[in-house]
Amino acid sequence: MEVCTKSRQFAVFRIISIIFLLESIAWKVAESRFIRKEETINFSAISCRKHIALLTDFGGVGDGKTSNTKVFQSAITQLSKYASDGGAQLIVPAGKWLTGSFNLTSNFTLFIDKDAVLLASEDEAEWPALPALPSYGKGRDAPAGRFNSLISGTNLNDVVITGNNGTIDGQGAVWWDKFHKQKLNLTRPYLIETLYCHQVQISNLTLINSPSWNVHPTYSSNVLIMGLTILAPVDSPNTDGINPDSSSNVRIEDSYIISGDDCVAVKSGWDEYGIKVGLPTEHLVIRRLTCISPDSATIALGSEMSGGIQDVRAEDITAINTQSGVRIKTARGRGGYVKDIYVRRLTMSTMKYVFWMTGSYGSHPDPGFDPQALPKIANINYRDMIAENVTYSARLEGLKEDPFTGICVSNVKINLTQKPEELQWNCTDIAGVSSRVTPKPCALLPEKDIDCPFSEERLPIEDVQLKTCSVKY
Ligand SMILES: *[C@@H]1O[C@H](CO)[C@@H](O)[C@H](O)[C@H]1NC(C)=O
Ligand SMILES: *[C@@H]1O[C@H](CO)[C@@H](O)[C@H](O)[C@H]1NC(C)=O
Ligand SMILES: *[C@@H]1O[C@H](CO)[C@@H](O)[C@H](O)[C@H]1NC(C)=O
Ligand SMILES: *[C@@H]1O[C@H](CO)[C@@H](O)[C@H](O)[C@H]1NC(C)=O
Ligand SMILES: *[C@@H]1O[C@H](CO)[C@@H](O)[C@H](O)[C@H]1NC(C)=O
Ligand SMILES: *[C@@H]1O[C@H](CO)[C@@H](O)[C@H](O)[C@H]1NC(C)=O
Ligand SMILES: *[C@@H]1O[C@H](CO)[C@@H](O)[C@H](O)[C@H]1NC(C)=O
Ligand SMILES: *[C@@H]1O[C@H](CO)[C@@H](O)[C@H](O)[C@H]1NC(C)=O
Ligand SMILES: *[C@@H]1O[C@H](CO)[C@@H](O)[C@H](O)[C@H]1NC(C)=O
Repeated sequence: MEVCTKSRQFAVFRIISIIFLLESIAWKVAESRFIRKEETINFSAISCRKHIALLTDFGGVGDGKTSNTKVFQSAITQLSKYASDGGAQLIVPAGKWLTGSFNLTSNFTLFIDKDAVLLASEDEAEWPALPALPSYGKGRDAPAGRFNSLISGTNLNDVVITGNNGTIDGQGAVWWDKFHKQKLNLTRPYLIETLYCHQVQISNLTLINSPSWNVHPTYSSNVLIMGLTILAPVDSPNTDGINPDSSSNVRIEDSYIISGDDCVAVKSGWDEYGIKVGLPTEHLVIRRLTCISPDSATIALGSEMSGGIQDVRAEDITAINTQSGVRIKTARGRGGYVKDIYVRRLTMSTMKYVFWMTGSYGSHPDPGFDPQALPKIANINYRDMIAENVTYSARLEGLKEDPFTGICVSNVKINLTQKPEELQWNCTDIAGVSSRVTPKPCALLPEKDIDCPFSEERLPIEDVQLKTCSVKY
């Protein structure tokens, strides 16, 4: 699709004051004649937009020092007028763009060019305070609430955050320091969050040094996450990669994550708050991921899972120097469930645990949780994996009054470190079967000649086709 950039920019300018309009055009002409030649960018997205604008059209300054928070917000507010007329795309061109939190709009694309860096402000005043999420009840770092995320969307339809590998730098060090010194009155911000959004794409970006979690789709559906490079120091606190939370039809693929916490953490709310909201994460596909996380999991399910987690398919994943492969974390008081989990073709090297489940994770929002609210963990399937340099093959710990059932492990070859632990399969309060697994699993997973199932029925999110968008600017 060939796009006539100029006429589209005129359309955008109509909503800006006439003086600013003339100045911008003069500047743009001058720029394209004397500063740089026009570029065409091609990229894939769920939707292409009719109206195209640059952050500089709205007065953005890419010097790494000037705050652009108001510029982003006013650009997006003005472009939101095109939601019902083919939508709009805001291009962040080359430069360093300092900004605090801002909100997206519907039928909208934020495009971060390859030499563009969004620098997250270190100033708390640039981050509006919000109440805790309803399914969490309390903030995770501090009970009062939380800072809005850097790039945030609420109640939107059709929103794309992409780029040809442009960067979002969370400048997290100042936040990690406040976290360690317990100087936070609110929970740290995330880099990208969608709440109650439908048709979401987050792709082809590099996210570095997030203050906390990187990507947090919540109460959302039809979410595509692809081509992300997520980097944070391995000792940075809670820098989870991608956290689908109370969301359905989510596809996460082709991403590379090094972080201080779980590479992917699947969640659905915390104790009595999550039970009350009751929104599960379901119909989730995770594939072609590389993960390095020495103190956390490749894929964690929980620990906040009170709205339930079901129908998760994970495949073709590589983990290196990571604490565990798949980890299920839950506790008395969570309620909810983790069921119908299918994982295959994980390749792991230098792992403390290949498999880990725990029913006594603890960590409660407040003393108001109901200890009788027991989580149901069932139908967990692991197959076709190899692992080397492993310390413990598995630690599978259910709850005495609430055993974890339907665990199946087949065709898994685990090679141990030079000094492996003696008890390779430490199982309590679980039930299931195993087949062709070395070292030999515990007696609670007796040998049965089967292949563990993997759900082969395709999800609608797997068939979403992207369009090629071509934009000249
Ligand atoms: C973008 O795509 C158009 C055709 O859709 C093609 O002519 C052009 O060469 C492509 N540009 C780049 C930079 O790939
Ligand atoms: C992301 O980038 C890759 C490689 O540059 C490209 O093949 C792919 O189409 C892009 N994906 C999207 C969603 O833009
Ligand atoms: C977004 O675009 C779709 C399709 O054109 C349209 O139906 C919808 O009303 C638009 N959304 C808004 C908020 O205008
Ligand atoms: C951004 O969204 C949050 C959450 O919905 C809202 O509280 C805040 O007022 C919005 N900010 C702006 C500038 O619209
Ligand atoms: C994107 O940038 C990151 C960081 O520079 C780099 O590691 C990664 O390979 C790049 N991805 C692509 C597809 O070019
Ligand atoms: C944060 O809490 C501390 C006490 O822990 C207080 O001194 C400070 O004023 C609070 N800051 C804000 C911005 O509310
Ligand atoms: C595991 O060890 C065996 C024997 O030492 C070796 O043949 C095999 O290649 C190793 N497998 C992996 C995945 O490292
Ligand atoms: C094997 O794992 C140990 C930790 O258990 C680590 O120190 C060592 O470097 C790993 N070896 C290789 C070859 O990766
Ligand atoms: C086995 O697991 C139980 C429960 O998780 C734990 O208390 C115990 O220390 C473990 N035993 C060994 C030898 O690792």
